[in-house]
Amino acid sequence: MPKDSLTVTDNRTGKQYELPIENGAVRGMDLRQIKVSDDDFGLMSYDPAFMNTASCKSSITFIDGDKGILRYRGYPIEQLAEKATYLETAYLLRHGELPTKPQLEDWKKNITLHTFVHENVKKFMDGFHYDAHPMGMFTSTMAALSTFYPDAKNIFDAESRQLQIYRLIGKVTTIAAFAYRHSIGLPYTHPEDDLTYAGNFLKMLFKRSEAHYKPNPVLEKALDVLFILHADHEQNCSTNAMRSVGSSHVDPYSALAAASAALYGPLHGGANEAVLRMLKEIGSKDKIPAFIKEVKEGKGDKRLMGFGHRVYKNYDPRAKIIKKLADDVFEVTGRNPLLDIALELEKIALEDDYFVKRKLYPNVDFYSGLIYQAMKFPVDMFPVLFAIGRTSGWVAQWEEMLLDGEQKIARPRQLYLGHAQRQYVPLVRR
Ligand code: ACO
Repeated sequence: MPKDSLTVTDNRTGKQYELPIENGAVRGMDLRQIKVSDDDFGLMSYDPAFMNTASCKSSITFIDGDKGILRYRGYPIEQLAEKATYLETAYLLRHGELPTKPQLEDWKKNITLHTFVHENVKKFMDGFHYDAHPMGMFTSTMAALSTFYPDAKNIFDAESRQLQIYRLIGKVTTIAAFAYRHSIGLPYTHPEDDLTYAGNFLKMLFKRSEAHYKPNPVLEKALDVLFILHADHEQNCSTNAMRSVGSSHVDPYSALAAASAALYGPLHGGANEAVLRMLKEIGSKDKIPAFIKEVKEGKGDKRLMGFGHRVYKNYDPRAKIIKKLADDVFEVTGRNPLLDIALELEKIALEDDYFVKRKLYPNVDFYSGLIYQAMKFPVDMFPVLFAIGRTSGWVAQWEEMLLDGEQKIARPRQLYLGHAQRQYVPLVRR
């Protein structure tokens, strides 16, 4: 009869240990009993960048990277992108079930109500330099919100958490739009209750002198789908930051600012910006082979941006949906000339041994930037758009972490390889 356990022999001592296997994992703490002597600290596992360490149990998002599967609360991303709205998806992520009609109405009403920001938030944002990066403005303003809502510290009060979640999902669009308007020197536009979440965001960004801004329905839908595709992605770098910082029991605005900072990096949310810069640098289809050669010879220093993923070792399912979405958007906006370079680059890379061997496929960012650019978003806004969608995932993961009785303040161990104790040397003798 097979047993759900792992038998380990410590060859230093000859002792055997039996470690239970639970949900396909052994507990890191079970290694601690493995010691060479009584005063030994016990065995640790070494796993830089968490390549093979589960830091939590979660019921939110499922990914099978080899098969290219992504599901939120069990629902395939393809079905949600086709049939649901972003706010419906945000409800699903947070509550675990799709909302009924009254639940959805209530959820939408509360989020819409909280799209407004305090007038001092505007003043705060006015302080940024005229060419400040919108993601820097977004991140800092999210952190500043914690000073507007001191009640958010009551993280174990369910009602307070609910309120902060409404505020966060509501206000991220307004703050993102203000960051954009600030960067181009236009006055801020206030939210409007009658529009959809994506439509209202488009209005706050692009409204000029017209009395009633009417978002283009194709672009409004496309943006909503992009928010759905970016809503959650299990324990990615920024979500890990949200959980890790949140585990100190700080308020959710501060934790979300940390997540947003993590998302800013070019290996994460900054990747679609990097894709566009790369496509521009390549410039024309005939330069692709030389570029691919450089990437391969660079051995990791120069990368094919928008390719590869820590978890997907197959085509990213979100990239497939976005590729299709691009056709709808380009019909309205006109074709992005960089698309031809992207399509050819993808074709060549997918046949090249270097990429095939390493299972490097296009990820969500390979095509999203082309759509955003066609919709007239400046590249600096790309990570901000990602952050808007991901906010629903961040808050769902944050709450799951708080309510998980097994979680504690996140505090990894290290293997200390530095000097043993040595004596201080005065400056004159160095
Ligand atoms: N172009 C060229 N080579 C690559 C690429 C790439 N985009 N990605 C990985 N490789 C190579 C590495 O050089 C390495 O080769 P080696 O085994 O010969 O050393 C091998 O593939 C494995 O790469 P790692 O860096 O170990 O993979 P890791 O899982 O750490 O990185 C990451 C994943 C960061 C996404 C990486 O693939 C990458 O940098 N891609 C480009 C940036 C990007 O598109 N990021 C967006 C990710 S999706 C998101 O955040 C929404």
